[in-house]
Amino acid sequence: MSGLAIEAAGLVKTYKGKVRAVENVSFGVDPGRIFGFLGPNGAGKTTTVAMLTGNLAPTAGQATVDGVDVFRHPELVKRKIGLVFQESTADSDLTGRENLELAAALFGVPRRSTATTIDSLLDRMQIGDAADRLTKTYSGGMRRRLELAVGIIHAPRVLFLDEPTLGLDPQGRAGFWRFVLELRKEHGMTVFVTTHYLDEADTICDRIAIIDHGHLVATGSPSELKDRLGADLVTVRPVTPSPIMEGVLRAVPGVLSVAVQDGSYRVKAPRGEALIPLLVDACARSGIDLASVSLKRPSLDEVFLEFTGREFREDEGMTATDRAVRVGQVQQAFGRGGRR
Ligand SMILES: Nc1ncnc2c1ncn2[C@@H]1O[C@H](COP(=O)(O)OP(=O)(O)O)[C@@H](O)[C@H]1O
Ligand SMILES: [Mg+2]
Repeated sequence: MSGLAIEAAGLVKTYKGKVRAVENVSFGVDPGRIFGFLGPNGAGKTTTVAMLTGNLAPTAGQATVDGVDVFRHPELVKRKIGLVFQESTADSDLTGRENLELAAALFGVPRRSTATTIDSLLDRMQIGDAADRLTKTYSGGMRRRLELAVGIIHAPRVLFLDEPTLGLDPQGRAGFWRFVLELRKEHGMTVFVTTHYLDEADTICDRIAIIDHGHLVATGSPSELKDRLGADLVTVRPVTPSPIMEGVLRAVPGVLSVAVQDGSYRVKAPRGEALIPLLVDACARSGIDLASVSLKRPSLDEVFLEFTGREFREDEGMTATDRAVRVGQVQQAFGRGGRR
């Protein structure tokens, strides 16, 4: 065995013999890491999640999750992992506590410990006060935290999150991630997350993979991917305009280009931090006083554009896969006894 928490090798999914949703996708996720799966709407993210979680049979390829062959033992994988969908799956006609009780029964949490587990999760997700209210009265952020609690009620070692913060405001997103990061720290849980919030992926994920039209186009840590773009932007502003400044900056080793804009000089270079002292020094030697120096590293938006040739667009909502997976999950819940 590889020791990887998630391993995908040559995954392919062709829907109805035509739509090639996922093509030859391979990657590995080390235990305890947060792995981000980024791509525009329709790229194949949910299809990949559905295959990795035992909810969808692949057309070809192999996958293991926590050492279990997903396609040989999908039911075992479903019980082992946690899964939070992009669309709300909490039953709004049940209270928060009832939703958790249902999940506990579904995942075979021992009856003895159910009540304490639920109480501590409710508390921890800061929905303790609303535990006995119907979830239809919950805010978006509360619902997401409840669904996260549902997803981890059986203390899974691997948690899959499909666009978990879709539609939450920045505060709700930050709160959601705080809990995920805490859980990871305490339980060493591995997290596979799809998101279209690139800033979120940048700060939260240890590694990311970018998928476009079913193909993986790049994999690496956010900073590795940004480094591959090859240039930071250093903006230097002199106290008073200087006719020699552009030439002085251009002569500094490592500078790729200099552009002048509104009295500021925009310098491109592979390693901005290392360049700043050299730029400052070169200006000082030429008698140029600087008013400000700032550094901008490329963001994941630029990384995305570079690797896919397209601007990143917002997801427009549920696709066919999301619906199919949810229907399957609901049927499974009822097949296993569903509500008492
Ligand atoms: N059940 C289905 N039948 C046919 N095509 C589908 C089905 N589910 C998804 N697709 C198509 O597969 C592609 C990938 O979809 P999906 O995995 O949902 O992308 P994402 O989650 O990245 O938005 C899209 O072109 C989508 O329209
Ligand atoms: Mg999706």
